[in-house]
Amino acid sequence: MTENQLKEFQNKFREWQLSPVAFIRDIWGLIPERDNEKFVKGQHLSWQQHDILLAVERALAGDKRRISIASGHGIGKSACVSWLLLWFLICFYQAKVAATAPTSEQMYDVLWAEIKKWLDKMPDWLRVKYEWTASHIRVVENPETWFARARTARKETPEALAGIHGDYVMLLADEASGVPDEIYRTAEGALTDKNVLAILISNPTRLTGYFYDTHNSDKKNWQTFNHSPMFCFFWTLSSDRSAFGHWQFCSRRAF
Ligand SMILES: Nc1ncnc2c1ncn2[C@@H]1O[C@H](COP(=O)(O)OP(=O)(O)OP(=O)(O)O)[C@@H](O)[C@H]1O
Ligand SMILES: [Mg+2]
Repeated sequence: MTENQLKEFQNKFREWQLSPVAFIRDIWGLIPERDNEKFVKGQHLSWQQHDILLAVERALAGDKRRISIASGHGIGKSACVSWLLLWFLICFYQAKVAATAPTSEQMYDVLWAEIKKWLDKMPDWLRVKYEWTASHIRVVENPETWFARARTARKETPEALAGIHGDYVMLLADEASGVPDEIYRTAEGALTDKNVLAILISNPTRLTGYFYDTHNSDKKNWQTFNHSPMFCFFWTLSSDRSAFGHWQFCSRRAF
């Protein structure tokens, strides 16, 4: 690599550290869909995915580092979580990620498989830096201390999001509404650590529990998104915002 190429790469890498949108564009060729343009799967990020990624960028720029997203079925939640996991892991030195989901099927057959899918679509030079196993994805340079971990969220063994320490830590919960509250309580220290990036994403399935509270009683501590028309409607009925207007907003097309 010439000096100029090295400089160019360093600049690109710095851009990636600040912007998962830039990383996703450069690695998988996906760009945000534009207003009035037809969404094309494989070419675009859905508007919901773009919203989520911009929230992460805001978090990196100083906004709340806890992000909670309620979104409908099939809008690309697990794909978005997968991109974020792979982005965070490679962009931050000795990064550690704890990922969880309520059942082993959702954790391994869905999310971990989705991550593998995007890992396999990476350019070779980058893919070889990751080592994928059934329970971990490690960065080959330093596999013991630089990794993402998958654990099913079981209330009998509630440490799925706990016990991870370091300068760069991300906690991810897919189908977060179904994750037992014991998991969140056990990880309370990390979840309230202002240096930890915490992302909960879910089709909202419950009107109680930790995930629900992130959109209600604990909302002030989170960046929140409601992409789910039904849930938005019920939530807004108990707020002073126009339920109908919010319904229309949330009902904007996904893909
Ligand atoms: N922007 C995108 N471009 C190409 N493929 C995508 C994109 N977003 C998601 N996909 C693919 O679409 C499928 C559905 O997405 P995904 O599983 O992420 O949705 P989901 O919201 O998690 O669904 P569910 O509600 O069932 O959990 C997956 O195969 C995923 O890889
Ligand atoms: Mg999913």
